[in-house]
Amino acid sequence: FHVDWDLMTAEKAGFDHFMLKEIHEQPKAYRDTMRGRISEDGRSVVLPELKITAEQLKGINRVHIVACGTALHAGLVGKNVIENLVRIPVETDVASEYRYRSPIITPDTLVIVVSQSGETADTLAALREAQRCGARVLAITNVVGSSVAREADDVIITLAGPEIAVASTKAYSSQLIAFFLFGLYWAQTIGSKNESEVAHVLAAMQALPEQVEKVLAQAEVIKGVAESISHHSSLFFIGRGIDYAVAMEGSLKLKEISYIHSEAYAAGELKHGTLALIEEGTPVIALLTQEDVYEKMLSNIKETKARGADVLGIINEGHEVEVAKSVDRQFAIPRTLPLLTPALSVVPLQLLSYYASLALGHDVDKPRNLAKSVTVE
Ligand code: G6P
Repeated sequence: FHVDWDLMTAEKAGFDHFMLKEIHEQPKAYRDTMRGRISEDGRSVVLPELKITAEQLKGINRVHIVACGTALHAGLVGKNVIENLVRIPVETDVASEYRYRSPIITPDTLVIVVSQSGETADTLAALREAQRCGARVLAITNVVGSSVAREADDVIITLAGPEIAVASTKAYSSQLIAFFLFGLYWAQTIGSKNESEVAHVLAAMQALPEQVEKVLAQAEVIKGVAESISHHSSLFFIGRGIDYAVAMEGSLKLKEISYIHSEAYAAGELKHGTLALIEEGTPVIALLTQEDVYEKMLSNIKETKARGADVLGIINEGHEVEVAKSVDRQFAIPRTLPLLTPALSVVPLQLLSYYASLALGHDVDKPRNLAKSVTVE
């Protein structure tokens, strides 16, 4: 009697690839990242790991979020979250640019570095530059004891668990959860949101894991779209506001593992030039989860349709009938607060890149030319 014991297969827990397994682990990653960080009555955020005092937090008047790759895209959502909840200006920066452009860093600046691995050389260099200029640095990382975690003044650990696939999925979405928690913590500390407002957001956050399960249950819809886009050499992801930040992550994910060229565009900016590239059959992935710009998005989609685009709409449940008139295919995500939608809307985009890569026969978990962690500048 002989059993072939392949450790890698065992670790994939029945999934064909680590990426697919990690996409499916997101409900657990969300729960683990929230666990113990929401008070028992659900009305406040508890972050005992933070050393920054309430007084120090009250003194912060600007934020820089610095990271690379997918972590930077989580930071783009983080900017929206902090500006919305705390009303303090936030800039985001590519880590490899940050320290060479002499950024204006004062002691009242909070620099937030985001890094799954905590070992990215560019991010670490940005952290050191920020500290040299007298700023306090908060790290959001997935690895306890990593260089970034050791050197930062404050650390919020995402509890996504080990991420093996080069293309980041559950680490990104857990970074979003960390930003929601930190934004709420800051808001409750300085009083920019009252207790019932904080409780309202926390209740919506606690529903996210189950809502992700619902999104995952519709994976087959995305598989069909992925197979059709895999025949194209270029496509667009469009959105407005926080949807644009998610569009950037969707586009990066697709490029990383399917090698199909794509561009993420702020939907309202298309008409200022890039619309010229849309022709008969060009796939457009349009995110329209933000109610305040919903009508504007619909007209941007119509601009692409008029040029022959083949549009997949990522929409909110309840808009199916109306949106059906403007798009070719649609994928509905469960209702949540506008600010929290990225934690749901990114999931179909992850699945889209996964299935496109699969359809093209690429090595999903180990894409060409890329490394999980880049420790050289
Ligand atoms: C590499 C990976 C990307 C990742 C980036 C930042 O380039 O290929 O997937 O987003 O590093 O990694 P970090 O560990 O700092 O989040």
